[in-house]
Amino acid sequence: MICFCEERGVGYNGPGPFCIVESSPYRFFLTRPVSFALSLTVVANRVPIRQTDDGWETSVGGLTTALLPVLEEQGGVWVGMGEDPDLPERQEYPADDPDFVVRRVPLSTEELDGYYYGMANQILWPLSHYLVQHLELNEAFLETYRQVNRRFADAVLEETEEGGDETIWIQDYHQMLSPGYIREDRPDVTIGHFWHIPWPAMEVFRILPWSRELLRGMLGCDLIGFHVEEYVDNFLESAETLLDAEVEGNVIHYEGREIRAEAHPIGIDVERFKSMAHDPSIEEEAQKFRDRLGTDYVVIGIDRLDYTKGIRSRMLAFEKFLEENPEYHGKVSFFQIATPSRTELESYQQIRREVDEVVGRINGRFAQESWVPVNYRYRTYTQYELCAFYRAADAALITPLRDGMNVVTQEFVTATQDGVLILSELTGAAYLLPEAVQVNPYDHGGLARAIKTALEMPHEEKVERLRGLKRTIETLDVHNWADGFLEALHR
Ligand code: G6P
Repeated sequence: MICFCEERGVGYNGPGPFCIVESSPYRFFLTRPVSFALSLTVVANRVPIRQTDDGWETSVGGLTTALLPVLEEQGGVWVGMGEDPDLPERQEYPADDPDFVVRRVPLSTEELDGYYYGMANQILWPLSHYLVQHLELNEAFLETYRQVNRRFADAVLEETEEGGDETIWIQDYHQMLSPGYIREDRPDVTIGHFWHIPWPAMEVFRILPWSRELLRGMLGCDLIGFHVEEYVDNFLESAETLLDAEVEGNVIHYEGREIRAEAHPIGIDVERFKSMAHDPSIEEEAQKFRDRLGTDYVVIGIDRLDYTKGIRSRMLAFEKFLEENPEYHGKVSFFQIATPSRTELESYQQIRREVDEVVGRINGRFAQESWVPVNYRYRTYTQYELCAFYRAADAALITPLRDGMNVVTQEFVTATQDGVLILSELTGAAYLLPEAVQVNPYDHGGLARAIKTALEMPHEEKVERLRGLKRTIETLDVHNWADGFLEALHR
């Protein structure tokens, strides 16, 4: 079944087999299935199913891949926004033999604008990625965000039994206030929250005039998860400084309650991805792709088209590389995929224009009869197609200006056999992957040199680096992430 992944905007298959117990630099992971029964309500901005011409299917990103097996095994509810008024508020899924319930919170156009496009995407997203020039501090966005979070909380309260042993797991920056709203009504339920993007330094978070209200909402939880310890530390400092909370180790004491903050780095479905990457047809596809490009070297970049991803900066670095290394003209192709995302927003339309402009300029400057230096695609690809690109690449340039984790990194490392990973040091993944060639994404000169280093790296060094990278990625399995978080929530 091909589904849709929010992170890269690509086709993605359903969940695969379970994984083994392994240690990681950060923590010890559990094997699935979870060893205890729980009544689970997941709260996320997007619901995990979508309608196609052939009926309903799961719309899988990493999150759905991780959480659907738990819901399928134990039942439960997934609460998310309803953008289409024609869809039911409550839908059992699958219809013929239901495993779980999808509960939609229907949003009007105004609510969607204020809560999702406004507060989530024009305030919390740029702030958490340190890109404050994109901030639109409009108080009306906050007002709508409050109302929508309240409606999500009400839906959760309706779906969970009073006095029951309920677990509520809330996802991401779209829902900072709902934990507090739920807690007001149900002091006894267990509430977890996972923050999928960076938590910025306290001094950046406090730029937000409503930072304290939002933090208080989050502290309705029992456990708050982040990808890496650095985000945990930023969060603890925010609670300590902005709310005068007492912090002891990773425990926050606030208004008579204890809230833990922990690092739980997310991974991909390693086994499923590995088996796709090792399918012989992928190798053929990869070869065909290389033949079409017709150069000795192929460098790839794969992202949602988002100003946080550093696509323009990366292009400028490639331009510098071509300026400084004429011996590579005609020999290297840069293949960049940018998946359309949040296209209604001006800042996303702007970055699209900027990328178009720089790609056009580079190709205008350097292209020759049979060589186009930058092959740029503004569209979505299936997971299978991406896998072939990963296999074909000599190097992947993954250089966001800031990124909570970046799972494209993990897919590339899993799929490649001797490719070089050039990774922004401003990603969560960089903390976990010291064997990558790490770069500052704002440093065009450094990035240009990193491209040369990657193309000229001795085979033994590539293989040695990949050995370490692959070892770590195997520990970051997405099923273990879900089970590890849920186990920690009940600890
Ligand atoms: C990031 C966020 C997710 C979000 C995804 C796609 O990965 O952490 O919560 O779903 O981007 O963005 P979108 O706004 O299309 O859901």
